[in-house]
Amino acid sequence: MVHAESPVNKLAVLNEISTALMSELELPHLLELILDRVRTAFDVDRCAILHLDANAGRLKMLRAVGYDEVVAHGFEIAVGEGISGWVASTGMPAFVADVRQDPRYVPGVTGAVSEVAVPLKRHGDVVGILDIESTRPLRMQDFDMELLSALAAKCAAALYTASLLQDLTASKYQLEQRVRELQVLNHVGKLLGQVLPLDDVLREILRLAREKLHFRSCAVLLPEADDASVLRIRAAVGYPEATVDRVRIHRGEGITGKVFESGIPRLVDDVTKAAGYIPGIIGGRCEMACPLLSRGRVLGVLDAEGEEPGCFDEGMFVLFSTFASQAAIAIKNAQMLERQQSIYYQTISSLAAALEARDSYTRGHSERVTGLAVRIGERLGLRTGEMATIRQAGLLHDLGKIGIPDGVLNKPAALSHEERGELQHHPAFGTNILGQLAFMRQASRAILHHHERFDGNGYPSGLVGAEIPLVARAFAVADAWDAMTSDRPYRDAMKDDSAVMEIVDNSGHQFDPDVVRAFLHVIGREDLVPE
Ligand SMILES: [Fe+2]
Repeated sequence: MVHAESPVNKLAVLNEISTALMSELELPHLLELILDRVRTAFDVDRCAILHLDANAGRLKMLRAVGYDEVVAHGFEIAVGEGISGWVASTGMPAFVADVRQDPRYVPGVTGAVSEVAVPLKRHGDVVGILDIESTRPLRMQDFDMELLSALAAKCAAALYTASLLQDLTASKYQLEQRVRELQVLNHVGKLLGQVLPLDDVLREILRLAREKLHFRSCAVLLPEADDASVLRIRAAVGYPEATVDRVRIHRGEGITGKVFESGIPRLVDDVTKAAGYIPGIIGGRCEMACPLLSRGRVLGVLDAEGEEPGCFDEGMFVLFSTFASQAAIAIKNAQMLERQQSIYYQTISSLAAALEARDSYTRGHSERVTGLAVRIGERLGLRTGEMATIRQAGLLHDLGKIGIPDGVLNKPAALSHEERGELQHHPAFGTNILGQLAFMRQASRAILHHHERFDGNGYPSGLVGAEIPLVARAFAVADAWDAMTSDRPYRDAMKDDSAVMEIVDNSGHQFDPDVVRAFLHVIGREDLVPE
């Protein structure tokens, strides 16, 4: 028969464990330490701590030493079953010198001879079991049982502390999550307050998504203008440009199409295993797709993809859904703003055209100036955005003449100094009218400066050279050419040759030499282009 170690050594073990309990908060380490010391002190083969799952009525292995992997990680037993189950149900410790003689014993690990089980208690209730098994007969004295009970109390305390710590960590995580949520909502709230043009809103949504929610790739998908059943990517971060242009998703197709159809958000841990999956935009594995809902209508879908399966958790999904619902309001506002502005633009365009048509001398002037400025712009190699500005500004460049008295505007003679001063207000008047239209921002600027001179002697700001917007410089030449070659109440149209020479002579003074060169090419007078 094997004798346990001396009582003095065992007291030392208890002391060591008590000290460790005060400093070690990591539960696995602590349990490991307790089991290891118990095994050494009692010279046994196996030692385990089981916790009681009160709801299931089962004891489940929490930590073990000396058992094989399967038992150490998966063993469990019903309360009332076996010796440990008896201890759990009675709350009494048990020492069985020979388990083979005990009817309660349920054969488990082969070769066990003796078993000791003591309950772990909290406020009198059993919360687990400290269990030791030996393949050799054990002799336990009262002192040993008392020591084991003391150790069991330490274990119970450690488990309780650890569970408190776990709760604290969980609350901290929830709190952090809540703070992040509020930050995002705060930012999106500010965005909503501004009522920005749609493109600005979409850019801001993606910037916030990337910055606050840490996505690598995220996209806003909205229906096509001419087919409301097909989604296209209206704005995206983290996707190749070619992909963004190419992607078209039909209602009900794939994960995004289904969210668009149903209006129900989806979190898919691994898209390759999802039913109806269509190979993704960038080969993402984990996907979140949320409908952009406005008054029950699905405006589009906000979609995020991650490369690793399961990389978006439930908390992230809730946050993303909240973000999408806020973003939807911003998008709806922007769309309404766009519609309003488009109506406003159409109204003033019609008004400007009607005013121009009343005067036989200026009829068609704006259209001709626009046509010529467009060709000059093409010759200068302007970008798509600048060409759009020319077209927008062209038809409305003299819109501000609405605010000039007829007596000045239609005077059949040269203007006086004062009258010229009055006429010179028309670029600013026009800009004021158009200033409310966000999408006319660049065009407004071109209109304001279409009477500037390259040498700085123009109006209203006296800008010099490159300070004048290039589109405005192109207008200056086109406008002058059309004015000179048209009849006016007080003079006949100039001959083309004289008008061209006037423009060439003023190159570098009134006009930008580059624009003049482009103009000469456009009207087929390359012969006049200086060497
Ligand atoms: Fe003008």
